[in-house]
Amino acid sequence: MVLIQTVEELRDALFRIKSVGKSIGLVPTMGALHEGHLSLMRQARKENQVTVCSIFVNPTQFNNQEDLEKYPRTLDKDLELVEPYIDFVFAPTAEEVYREPATEKYDFGALEQVMEGPARPGHFNGVGIIVGRLFKWIEPDKAYFGEKDYQQLIIIKNLVKQLNMDIQIVGCPIVREASGLALSSRNQRLSEEERQKAANIYRILKESTLLATPNTEEIKHFVEMEINKIDILRLEYYEISDAETLQPIRNLNEAKMAIGCIAVYAGDVRLIDNIRYK
Ligand code: PAJ
Repeated sequence: MVLIQTVEELRDALFRIKSVGKSIGLVPTMGALHEGHLSLMRQARKENQVTVCSIFVNPTQFNNQEDLEKYPRTLDKDLELVEPYIDFVFAPTAEEVYREPATEKYDFGALEQVMEGPARPGHFNGVGIIVGRLFKWIEPDKAYFGEKDYQQLIIIKNLVKQLNMDIQIVGCPIVREASGLALSSRNQRLSEEERQKAANIYRILKESTLLATPNTEEIKHFVEMEINKIDILRLEYYEISDAETLQPIRNLNEAKMAIGCIAVYAGDVRLIDNIRYK
């Protein structure tokens, strides 16, 4: 495994690989790696001749300065964890990534007007900027993203179309703790009590899929009531949407695939999760 910190070194290293026609799989991350990230890397390892992961806490996608400052940074441990799966780790500084000022303006239309969009103004533009730059610098054949950040996955698929690049976006299933809590770098900031209570999020989502109604208002009401019963948890939103367009639906039968996406605070830690209804 080779650690690369500049765009120039990255281009040099990949030039040789591309010139012999090897396939490249990319896993973009912000570090503080856990089994969720590693599952993406395992899949990339299986499907590509060369694997690259990026580790970069991207300032332009944080709409909250405190969240950016508190974001865990564990590079040495991360490098050990990725060793079995990754050939090149790209871990640049912010100065390196933003040598060109971040002036790109992406328009993801209706996809960014729901859920995380209004909740985190500027977030998806920041994600578009960093992922777009990584795609241009690395030109991978495939790039791997978790369904944990479902809206992000759909937006990245849209980004690739906008950039007109031939990159296959691979969505990977959510990895959970035994308790059901979706793994997240932010979980490190939960107290023991918050962590236990946060496990209710997935329990409630699962129970909501068993309700005998296709009416999404009723399902949402159930989720809201159940979340409110758990002290420490504070619901930011729960939306049930068409899993392709991300637009809200009133009845599960309106969409070919339907997904429920949730954002919840456990203490001051913001957690997101989702579940498929069909
Ligand atoms: P980060 O939160 O580090 O996540 C990197 C990738 O790991 C994302 O595609 C995310 O969906 C996936 N992931 C996180 N937790 C997961 C879990 N429990 N199960 C499966 N996959 C999981 O998402 C970002 O970073 C950034 O926005 C990034 C795309 C790197 C751009 O900066």
